[in-house]
Amino acid sequence: MKRFYVTTPIYYVNDVPHIGHTYTTVLADVLARFQRLMGREVYFLTGTDEHGQHVERAAQKQGIPPIQLADRVVERYHQLWKTLGISHDDFIRTTEESHRRGVYNCFERVKAQGDVYLDEYEGMYCTGCEAFYPETQIVDGRCPDLGHPVERLREASYFFRLSKYQQPLLDWYRDHPESVRPDFRLNEVRRFVEMGLRDLSISRTSFRWGIPFPDDDRHIFYVWFDALCNYVTALGYADDSPLYDACWPADVHLVGKDIVRFHAVYWPAFLMSAGLPLPKTIFAHGWWLRSEAKMSKSTGNIVDPIPLIDAFGVDPVRYFLMREMAIGQDASFSEEALVDRINNDLANDLGNLASRVTRLIETSCAGAVPRAAGAADTHLKEAAARAVAEYRAAFQELRFHEGLAALWALVGETNRYIVRHEPWSLAKDPAQRPQLETVLYNAAEALRIIAVAVGPVMPAASASLLEQIGGADAPAGLLEWGGLAPGKKIIAGRTLFPRVDKGAYFSELPTTPPGKPDTASSPPDGGTTSAHTRRTTMDQPAPDKPGAPGEPTPAQAAPAPQPATITIDDFLKVKLRVGKILEAERLAGADKLLKLVVDIGDERRTVLAGIALVYEPETLVGKSIVLVANLAPRKMRGVESQGMILAADDDGRPIIATFESPVPPGATVR
Ligand code: MSP
Repeated sequence: MKRFYVTTPIYYVNDVPHIGHTYTTVLADVLARFQRLMGREVYFLTGTDEHGQHVERAAQKQGIPPIQLADRVVERYHQLWKTLGISHDDFIRTTEESHRRGVYNCFERVKAQGDVYLDEYEGMYCTGCEAFYPETQIVDGRCPDLGHPVERLREASYFFRLSKYQQPLLDWYRDHPESVRPDFRLNEVRRFVEMGLRDLSISRTSFRWGIPFPDDDRHIFYVWFDALCNYVTALGYADDSPLYDACWPADVHLVGKDIVRFHAVYWPAFLMSAGLPLPKTIFAHGWWLRSEAKMSKSTGNIVDPIPLIDAFGVDPVRYFLMREMAIGQDASFSEEALVDRINNDLANDLGNLASRVTRLIETSCAGAVPRAAGAADTHLKEAAARAVAEYRAAFQELRFHEGLAALWALVGETNRYIVRHEPWSLAKDPAQRPQLETVLYNAAEALRIIAVAVGPVMPAASASLLEQIGGADAPAGLLEWGGLAPGKKIIAGRTLFPRVDKGAYFSELPTTPPGKPDTASSPPDGGTTSAHTRRTTMDQPAPDKPGAPGEPTPAQAAPAPQPATITIDDFLKVKLRVGKILEAERLAGADKLLKLVVDIGDERRTVLAGIALVYEPETLVGKSIVLVANLAPRKMRGVESQGMILAADDDGRPIIATFESPVPPGATVR
C-alpha cells in the first residue's frame, strides 16, 4: 500500500536549531500524526544538509573539520526532536555513503538525457543562500532575498539544461493546481518560470566540501542538487529498496517560503529529466518574524526553543506554534502571545473544562463514567460532529490553526452546555439522576473527542486527558460519538496545563532570553542558558554592568525601611513632566526594550522603556506620556536612559499612562 510520505527540508549544519526550524518540523510531525490517526501508513523524513561553502566556512571559523561541526550540530537536532516528541521514521544526513550513491544515480540519469554540459560561469554568488543572483538584483553588495553579502564567482561549471524544462514545468503547474500551495505561491512560481529559465550551474570548483563529481573530481556537486536528492536517496532509491516504491512520490514536501524556488522549479525539473515521478504537493509556510525581520543567525534575532520548552513544556509550545501561525502567512513571535495562549486556551478553556467534568463525575457518579440514560439530548453530539468535520477538513489541508479553532469552539460549547444544565443542581434531586448522568456522560464524551483530535498537536496532553476521563481504552483514533464506556474509572484533580504567572514571568529578565542574539552567537555546541535574574522596575531593566552610571552600589541597593506614608515634600522631589514621544525604535539585542526620544518642552530625552512586548514602536510616536524627569541617568545595552516613563502593571503587561486631552510637552504633572 502507498504510504503517506511527508518530508521537512533538511537543515543546514552551520547553525543550531531555532524556532523557525522547530516550526517546520512540528508542522510535519502534526501532519504525520494526523494521517496516522486517519488510518494511513505514514513515512516521515527529516535530516540535515551538511555540504556547501557556508558549512565549510563555519567549520573553518571554529578551526575544526566540517564533518566534526556537522556531527555536533546533528546531535543538537537529534536532542531537540526527541524532546519535542517528533515521530520521524528516518533522519538523513547528506554525508552518508548511501546518499552519495543516490546522488550519483540521479545524476547519471540526468546526464543520460543529455541534460548536463560543461561551460564557464561568472556571476554574483550568495554563500548564505548557496545560489547565484542576477547582477540586477544585487543591492549594495547583498542578495535580494535575505540581504547576505554576495561575491563575484567565475569558474568552470557543469550545467543542467533547466531551460529545456520551462514548458514542461508550466504544463505541470497547469495540470496539477495542488503541486504548489498555497495558491498564491503557485502563482509566484508560475510567473517566475514564465519569465524564462536559464540553465543551472550544478557544480563548484572554488571549495571542496561537497560530493565530488563522478568523472571529474575537480568539481563537487552544487549543494542544492545534492540536497534535493535526499528525498529519494533516503528511501534507498539507489539500492532498489521497496521503501522507495512504497513512498515515492512524496505526498507533501514542507518548505519555508524562502526555498520554494528550489523545490517547485529545480527539483521537479531534475526529476523530469531523471524520468522519476513528481511530488504531489510542495507546501510553503511563512516565516516566524522577530522585530519584523526573519529570524536568522546573521540578523541575530533568533529564538531558541529550549528555554521556552523548559519554561512552559513541550505540548504548550507545539500548540502555540500550530495555533498562532496561519499556515502560509508570516507571524510575529512573542512570548507574550505564547503565555496568553497557554493561560487562555489551555489552562482556562480546556484545562478548566477537564477538571470541572472530572470533579463533577467524581463527586456525583462515584468516580466512574456514567451511562447516558436520560432524555435524548443530541445538542452536544451534533456540535461535536460539526467540529470534527471542520477539524478533519482543515487538518487534511494543513490549516491546523483553523482545525484547532474548530475544536476550541467545541470546548466552549461543552462549557456552555454544563452551565446550561447545571449538573450541580441536578445532583441535589434524586429524580433527576438519569438527566445528571446524561449531561455528565455527554460532557465527558465531548472531551474524549477533543482529546483524540488534539493528539497530533499535543500527544502527551491528549494521552493524559484520555486517562483522566476514563477514555484511554476507547478505540484508538475514534472521533465518532459514543467511544466512552460507562463504568470506567476517571481521575480527578490532575492539572492538565498549569497557568503561567504572567507577572512573575515577565518581571524576570532572562540573562539569555529566548530571543536575545547571544544565543545566535553561541557556538553550535554551546549550552543554552535559561537562568533568570529579577528586574528592578517595570521599564528600567538591570544596567549593562556593575558600576554603570546611575546603577546603585550594593550598599545603596539595600532596601531602606519604608514609612507607611510620605509627605507632599517627599512626593514633590519626583519631577513628573509631560513628554511627547518623537521617535520610537526597538533596541538591537533587547526583546523588551524600546528606545524613545521624548520632547519635554525645553529639552529632548532619550529613554529606554521595557514596553516592547506590548507596543509596536510606530504606534507610540506622537503620544503624550508622563516622564520621571529627575531620575539619575542609567546606561543599559550601551545607551544612556535619561528618565523613566510611567506605566501601569496589568498582570505583567506595562500599559503606559497618557492624557485624556492634549497637553503641551514639558507641563508639570502632580
Ligand atoms: N538546507 C536548506 C534546505 C534544503 S531542503 C532540500 C535550508 N536549510 S535551513 O536550515 O536554512 O532552513 C530550513 C528550513 O527552516 C526552511 O524551510 C526555512 O524556511 C525554515 N526556517 C528558517 N527560519 C525560519 C523562520 N524564521 N520561520 C519559519 N521557518 C524558517 O534552507
